[in-house]
Amino acid sequence: MRLGLGAEWLGLLLLLGVSAGARGAAAAAANPQAEELLKAINAEYKFNRTSWDSSILNDAPSNLKLERILWTAQPRRFEFTVFTQLTLNRLPTLFNMCSSYTGPLSAAVYLALVQPDAQGGGALSSSNEAKVAEAVLQAESFFHRVESNGSICQLDLMLFSEVFDSDQAKLLYPVNYLRNYARMQVRTRLLAMIDVDMFMSTSLSQEMSQPASIQRYEELCAERRATVLPAFEPTKPGAVGKDMAMRISRVSKSELQTIHGRNKVTIQFKLRVFPRGHTPTDYLRWFATSEPYQVTYKRFYEPWFITCNEIMPWYDIEFRGYGMNKIVLIAALNYYNYTFWIHPSAWLVHNPHTDTDVRKMVARQASDVNKFKVKLQPNALYRKLTLLFGKAKRGMMRGTYDPKVDPRQLAVYDKVAWLRAPPQLVGSPTPESVFV
Ligand SMILES: *[C@@H]1O[C@H](CO)[C@@H](O)[C@H](O)[C@H]1NC(C)=O
Ligand SMILES: *[C@@H]1O[C@H](CO)[C@@H](O)[C@H](O)[C@H]1NC(C)=O
Ligand SMILES: *[C@@H]1O[C@H](CO)[C@@H](O)[C@H](O)[C@H]1NC(C)=O
Repeated sequence: MRLGLGAEWLGLLLLLGVSAGARGAAAAAANPQAEELLKAINAEYKFNRTSWDSSILNDAPSNLKLERILWTAQPRRFEFTVFTQLTLNRLPTLFNMCSSYTGPLSAAVYLALVQPDAQGGGALSSSNEAKVAEAVLQAESFFHRVESNGSICQLDLMLFSEVFDSDQAKLLYPVNYLRNYARMQVRTRLLAMIDVDMFMSTSLSQEMSQPASIQRYEELCAERRATVLPAFEPTKPGAVGKDMAMRISRVSKSELQTIHGRNKVTIQFKLRVFPRGHTPTDYLRWFATSEPYQVTYKRFYEPWFITCNEIMPWYDIEFRGYGMNKIVLIAALNYYNYTFWIHPSAWLVHNPHTDTDVRKMVARQASDVNKFKVKLQPNALYRKLTLLFGKAKRGMMRGTYDPKVDPRQLAVYDKVAWLRAPPQLVGSPTPESVFV
């Protein structure tokens, strides 16, 4: 066919072909800054398997390897970044989140590998090597699907792996390590950690597309304001709930009000199982106002919020698997003198999913302890969680709280000059009354 075309046409076709190919290749291939970051993160990496007991009993750290880093080649649509973390099998959930938002999104994706003693503890087995290679392909193909779609988020993706010595140990999902690494990858000053199972309201991207909004939020950082995004959930589970959730993220606020209520389409997130998580947001007041308003911190509050990089505390890496990992960060905001203001016109919606195994395990242990007064084994995760929470709480009461961060991550700041400086926050003692 092409033979019949003139030389100019052939040239043009080649040019188009080349540029389309180049766009894919440029995105897949090395962004020099991204590669520099990857090298620095892996600089201290040594193969080792994470075990349950040494993690729970001796606080042995998680051992993450950054397998691949993929950065969008698009110019940023706005100067605000959402960051999040997920296991590799939840890429479809990330796609959903990404479809509800048009700006920069930094995601740390995680692959857990199991290598029992029989397969050797000195190096990665060939079957695990194959799993890593497959995961890299999956991440790349996902990335290209997002990158080639001009109307969804702009993705920067890190793919981490970790090797465990047993299936049980694999439950120790290093959620806060991953949040911290995803945050490190953020290149805007303004950011928000939002869990991957949330949709963002259309109004959030619209607002952030206005440079004046960005500037206003950046100014608020001087007074340590956290702007809270109210969170909703559909009243139905499963596939019906997923469709409802997407709809709830796209309606106007006044329409949201008409579908809000226990017997309607949407309610406050976790209202039925954990009202304390979001009740301080004051949903009645929210529907009645179009202005931001301040609320008081209360124990176990766990909202998502917008803030600036320089005052965003680290997520405490000791919280692994499930439980308290966000609650402690919000308590830390309070400790660091943040005030909480509610965003009047943007919100989040939970995209329903089934419980993870580790959540079920912790819930079972919590009920054993609280209902049946069972004494848990020293290596039980729920027991560890209560110890860690107690330690954080005492630190905040005494004014000595300092979240634990992966030392390997902190070392990266000495190697990569262009990274935004890590936060230097000083807290003031939290009154004990806040915690009871
Ligand atoms: C592997 O991890 C364990 C538990 O943290 C630690 O005791 C051991 O020294 C590590 N081994 C190597 C070779 O780093
Ligand atoms: C981009 O993603 C959206 C949201 O999932 C989808 O509806 C649309 O068809 C995609 N567009 C392209 C060009 O793939
Ligand atoms: C934080 O608040 C406490 C109590 O109101 C106050 O004493 C302290 O000076 C504040 N610290 C900062 C850094 O603003």
